[in-house]
Amino acid sequence: MIHFYKHNLKKNKNYLKKALNSLYLTSGPISENVERLISERFNKKYCYLTNSWTNGLISILMSINLKKDDEVIVPACTFVACANVVEMVGGKVVFADIDEKTKLLDVEDCIKKITKKTKVIMPVHLYGNLFDSRKLKKKIATKKKIFIIEDCAHTFYGLYPNYKPLGYYSDFAVFSFYATKNITCGEGGAIISNHKNLMEKIKSISNNGMTKPAFKRFVKKKYVPWDVKQVGFKANLSDVNASLLEEQVINYSKLRNNRKKIFDQYIKAFKNINDIFFPKSSFVNRDFHLFPIGVNEKYRDKLIEYLLKKNIFVTVNYKSITQLNYYKNKYKIKKNTFPKSEKWSKQTLSLPFHQKLEKKDINFISKVITGFFNK
Ligand SMILES: Cc1ncc(COP(=O)(O)O)c(C=O)c1O
Repeated sequence: MIHFYKHNLKKNKNYLKKALNSLYLTSGPISENVERLISERFNKKYCYLTNSWTNGLISILMSINLKKDDEVIVPACTFVACANVVEMVGGKVVFADIDEKTKLLDVEDCIKKITKKTKVIMPVHLYGNLFDSRKLKKKIATKKKIFIIEDCAHTFYGLYPNYKPLGYYSDFAVFSFYATKNITCGEGGAIISNHKNLMEKIKSISNNGMTKPAFKRFVKKKYVPWDVKQVGFKANLSDVNASLLEEQVINYSKLRNNRKKIFDQYIKAFKNINDIFFPKSSFVNRDFHLFPIGVNEKYRDKLIEYLLKKNIFVTVNYKSITQLNYYKNKYKIKKNTFPKSEKWSKQTLSLPFHQKLEKKDINFISKVITGFFNK
């Protein structure tokens, strides 16, 4: 059986020891240390760990007071959480199509969708392929303040040709540490930003609106009282989860390079299969999270079935959000309104992709796919 994903955590490492030996199981010094490591890595002033990407996004949208009628532009073909967070806060989702080659948000279509009500644009570095936030930022430079929030759930590395890192051209960049992600602690996320006041607000919103988290309530043996100035909920990450992150954050370059090696092996093994195609890499210095391929839509579901029968686990990333019933009905979206997203979501399937995938697994997958098309 070839699994779709496997995590990199090692059974013989006692990651939790530090957390279990400390007073705080909830957010505390271990989380703070991981936050420091992440903000240094991306050269950002602030980092805040959350218990998921989703809850991090909800905290951000609450911090900027996203209201009914405020519009958030989201790529039509991405994970549904990108639209759900807008709905949860009561804003309006505006979809933009994807670029035919890269399968990332189409900047030109996104610009066409901007109105007076646009408050946020949320590009996604889908599959680890780096979206051109630099171009987007330049294009909206003359518009009223629009927040750019980068969805980095699929990436922890990316350099633009001018060597500016992921997160450089946005107001917020948000990572996911969900079970299948390149760095994981089961469930978790992180926000990076240079916005001091908003990040303070986000921390408070993520902690039931309280002005002080538990581990900041006692300073020099004195109790520091807390207040609530805005409503909040629970989105902070515990030190138990954060203890799993430290080593992965420190060693990420190695993890990324291993993933690149596996990605390159796939490309090499598939070079003679004419019936499949791949999203185009937008930049060289990108990350590698999933391995999606495209096939003619008339074969896609049959190929999925065939691979599963051969014990090769595959999935679809993603069905266009615009074709999911809730969104289709609520926003009255007709078929073919987002032609590129809809087409790609019928053509794509993602193959197993993780650190423990071996060359022999890739060669086997290649053989099975070749066999499918030669049938
Ligand atoms: C592109 C994308 N955005 C957002 C999310 C949500 O992340 P989380 O599960 O940490 O809330 C995911 C998770 O799968 C994702 O793939």
